[in-house]
Amino acid sequence: MVKIRRGLLIFLVINIAIIGLLVRSVFTLITLLFEDGARDAILRAEIPAPNSELIVQKPRFIPKIIHQTYVNESIPEVWREAQQSCLKFHEDYEYKLWTDEKSRHFIATEYPWFMDTFDNYPAPIQRADAIRYFVLAYFGGIYIDLDDGCNRRLDPLLSYHAWVRRTVPTGISNDAMGAIKQHPFFVRVIEMLQQYNRNWPLPYVTVMYSTGPLFLSVVWKEYMRSDPTEEGRVRILMPDEYNRHEWSFFTHHRGSSWHGKDAQLIFWVRIAPLPLLLRDESLISIQMGRHWLFLTVLGFATAGLVGLALWWAYSRVFLLGGSVPPKGTLRNSTVRRYPKFWRRLAGKERYDLVENRHEV
Ligand SMILES: *[C@@H]1O[C@H](CO)[C@@H](O)[C@H](O)[C@H]1NC(C)=O
Repeated sequence: MVKIRRGLLIFLVINIAIIGLLVRSVFTLITLLFEDGARDAILRAEIPAPNSELIVQKPRFIPKIIHQTYVNESIPEVWREAQQSCLKFHEDYEYKLWTDEKSRHFIATEYPWFMDTFDNYPAPIQRADAIRYFVLAYFGGIYIDLDDGCNRRLDPLLSYHAWVRRTVPTGISNDAMGAIKQHPFFVRVIEMLQQYNRNWPLPYVTVMYSTGPLFLSVVWKEYMRSDPTEEGRVRILMPDEYNRHEWSFFTHHRGSSWHGKDAQLIFWVRIAPLPLLLRDESLISIQMGRHWLFLTVLGFATAGLVGLALWWAYSRVFLLGGSVPPKGTLRNSTVRRYPKFWRRLAGKERYDLVENRHEV
């Protein structure tokens, strides 16, 4: 019969409790890694061709409004083409450009409880993220990032109650989304913003997790657990239908430099103080849904550190009581460097054997 030492037992219990707590707090993040959104995917086969009669026959729920955001009314040259491509296809849609001033006024009048949070976000990109959720919840319609152009009319997308765009490898993005007004998902999203408004050690993580795609993905994943009704469902636009084939809805206007820009952001937040990062308005356009790898690595590194800390604590707290082997024994072995720990691990008998041999 193996007699488990009391110290080891306590160590294991504490360890399991801490790991349990950690897993519980990142549970949604972990399940998100395995969420493909297939259950709610908008199937390619259900999307009518651009001029198909099916489009007008389908019922429409989402109002014909396009929302975009920018600092002010003067859209920079780089995005004008994308903006115009959407305006050109949708002359019968209402167009709302949410400038900084209009956004602030809108929050102050309609959602005054959010004013403090909104004003105190350290990054303009957080306000740009937040305002899109509020206007979708309030007016309904379709939000489109300024650097996404339109490839066809978006009418077929009005036939859902809410939709978002899937990102690879996991999660959803907030760069193009549609919803009826007061859709329960977006109401939930604006409700959760304050709870997620935390500052993390990395500005990058802060932006992602307080208002950005990671925030949206986590709220989405939790929302799905409530098993929404057909009207409450959030349908998922898959990458192919988003911008990868001839009839997809949107076009890339980021060019091949986009990935470079993306990497630049990670670089920037590491080396530059936040205010510098925030001044570069072009970074607003950067969609950060693709940094799961970075976050995953960060997560594993954290888990590893916690594990090491526990290991260290165990060897300090529970093994310090053991007697130190006589000086000179076990000199060139690893055992010497962690005497107490190895002594326990190896078992007293074996250790004694080694000790005796040295004494011979
Ligand atoms: C709009 O904002 C941009 C970027 O901050 C700035 O360069 C430009 O001068 C502003 N235009 C107006 C008319 O205020």
